[in-house]
Amino acid sequence: MQSLRVFTRSVKDDEKSSYDLLDLVHQVFLISKNEVKYVANLEIDVPEDIILYCNGVQIAQVFVNILVNAAQAIKSQKRYNMGTIRIVARQTDPNIIIRFEDDGPGIPKENLSKIFEPFFTTKEIGKGTGLGLSISYDIIVNKHNGSINVRSEYGHGCVFTIVLPIVSA
Ligand SMILES: Nc1ncnc2c1ncn2[C@@H]1O[C@H](COP(=O)(O)OP(=O)(O)O)[C@@H](O)[C@H]1O
Ligand SMILES: [Mg+2]
Repeated sequence: MQSLRVFTRSVKDDEKSSYDLLDLVHQVFLISKNEVKYVANLEIDVPEDIILYCNGVQIAQVFVNILVNAAQAIKSQKRYNMGTIRIVARQTDPNIIIRFEDDGPGIPKENLSKIFEPFFTTKEIGKGTGLGLSISYDIIVNKHNGSINVRSEYGHGCVFTIVLPIVSA
């Protein structure tokens, strides 16, 4: 099993290895902690025995993107209570399903089809590049044969769902 910390320095672009999903999620939380901790409680519902055969750095990059987006969305509401971000994973053969749910502002219907496009951002200049979700889409769909989708009702938060096929090393 690879640890991301050890692995990041030596990883090649397309190299894949086995990762414990819960480990990966914990490392992603550490990377994103400063963005998340003041705006949202993070609930992690990930079973211990899910193994992902993947490029760990790339998958971590996807998780960080989605997590930081959720935190920034919640922060933009200037609300007085903490938000909630939940990471839920399940293994249901032949797939591993990973969901990121947040109770932030959600995405207006007219933007839903655009968020995976390069350079689409609703953030101020200097804050968002609009590249996070397009890179994430490329990593999940083209590099890992998975899928990534969003469900959102404006005003009622977002759910990003990633489906990855179970691949053995
Ligand atoms: N959890 C979320 N809640 C609300 N809007 C979101 C969320 N995640 C993504 N978005 C929308 O998708 C857009 C594109 O996201 P992304 O590709 O990561 O670029 P960036 O974060 O640089 O704007 C964001 O600007 C925002 O409008
Ligand atoms: Mg982003």
